This record gives sequence, structure tokens and C-alpha cells, in this order.
Amino acid sequence: MEKKVLYEGKAKLMYATENPDELLVYYKDDATAGNGAKKGTILEKGIMNNKISAFFFNLLTKEGIKNHYISMPGDREMLVKNLDIIPVEVVIRNVAAGSLATRLGLEEGTKMSQPIVELYYKSDELNDPMINHFHIKAMGIASQAEIDVIEAAGLKVNEILVKYLATKKIELIDFKLEFGRHKGEVILGDEISPDNCRFWDSETHEKLDKDRFRRDLGNVEDAYKEILHRLTGEVR
Ligand code: C5P
Repeated sequence: MEKKVLYEGKAKLMYATENPDELLVYYKDDATAGNGAKKGTILEKGIMNNKISAFFFNLLTKEGIKNHYISMPGDREMLVKNLDIIPVEVVIRNVAAGSLATRLGLEEGTKMSQPIVELYYKSDELNDPMINHFHIKAMGIASQAEIDVIEAAGLKVNEILVKYLATKKIELIDFKLEFGRHKGEVILGDEISPDNCRFWDSETHEKLDKDRFRRDLGNVEDAYKEILHRLTGEVR
């Protein structure tokens, strides 16, 4: 049976499956930055991000965080629950970097005294503008109860990942999550990988994430390989 593409994103494809409650995600090697302004390929990124995301979703499931992960039927394929995605990107930050450092004039690497939660409206046309609770409710994007669940889950995910990654000598600088509705609940979706997290080596502060691509720092593939290796032991 020819698989039906439901959606093609910058780094992933979503296929329908025979079960309307399940989708098949295909992780591509394509990389973009600046909302598509910069395009490239990171060799085997799709395979590495699929495996890294599966690893994190399994860890979070064990820690009681409900998410869309079901299984990994192929190197680039992940079977997930079909969520009604809430178009809000939830960014959690522990250390100033990227747009936070720029916007507030903070030196990159400045540790925040507590985690920061930011919400962005997921819209390519608008370049994902930052929004707050008022915008979300006034525009009918989500309810206060849903926002509360999303923020609490985001902070809990942060706690779990910071603690786990420290054991692998990785500092979690910041990351982006997406959530969706599923059978009356709001659960975690999307991916958790070097594409949407900033990971720094705890000792050397070397960047082990997509900033190597965004900022032309070189050794892009090696950064993804290093994260996969530290998490799973796999050598690529
Ligand atoms: O660019 P900025 O500093 O706001 O990014 C914060 C975090 O959110 C980074 O880890 C980045 O990888 C992630 N992000 C993302 N998708 C976006 C914007 C940011 O994954 N559209």
C-alpha cells in the first residue's frame, strides 16, 4: 500500500497508518535554520534524531510523562499516537543562549537562577512570534487548564532531563517542546533531539547540537553522533 503523506515538515514527514489513532514519523537528514532561510543536510541526522528522541521518550515514560511515542519500527521511523497538535512551541531555558541572550542582552552561558518558560505561536508565515497566556486564550489556541498542564509538564521534563544528562556530562541549556490533545488529555509530542535542544559538554562547554549547523561551527555530524553515543552507547 502506498503510504499517504499527511504532512511534510522541515525535518520530518508524517504518514497515515491503517490505524487512525497512529501516525508514522519519518526523520529526514534535511536541516534548516532561521525558519528555512538556511538549508542543508546533516548526514544520518534522521537516524540519529529518531534514536535520540526514542531514548528520551522512553526515559520520560518511565518517569511518568505521557507522550506520543509508541515504537521505532525502522532507523528513521517512529510510530506515534495521532495528536491534535496545539500550535504553541514551549521553550524551557536554564542558561542564556540564542534568542534569549540577544533579546535581553545577556552573555551566552549565563546561568539563570530558575528555569524560564517561553511560549511561541507555531506559525512559519509569522516566524513563530512569542506569545503569552492572554494571546493563547484570546485567540482560542488553548484553555488556561491546557496551558497549566503544558507548563507544568515542560518544567517536569526539564527537571528529568537536566538530572539525567548531568550523568552523561551534558548540560541542558534550553529546548523546545510541543504538546497535543489525545483522548481528552494533553500529552507531549514532536521530538527531543539536538535539532530542538541545546546540549553543551558539561566540562568543555563545547556545543553538541544544531547550533553547530546554524552558526557554521563545523563538526556538525560529530555533535549528533556524540549525543547518541553518550545516551545509548551506539557508535556511528
Ligand atoms: O532560538 P532560541 O534561542 O529561541 O531557541 C531556544 C531553543 O528552542 C533552542 O534549543 C532551539 O533549538 C529550540 N527551538 C526550536 N524550534 C524553533 C525555535 C527554537 O526547536 N522554532
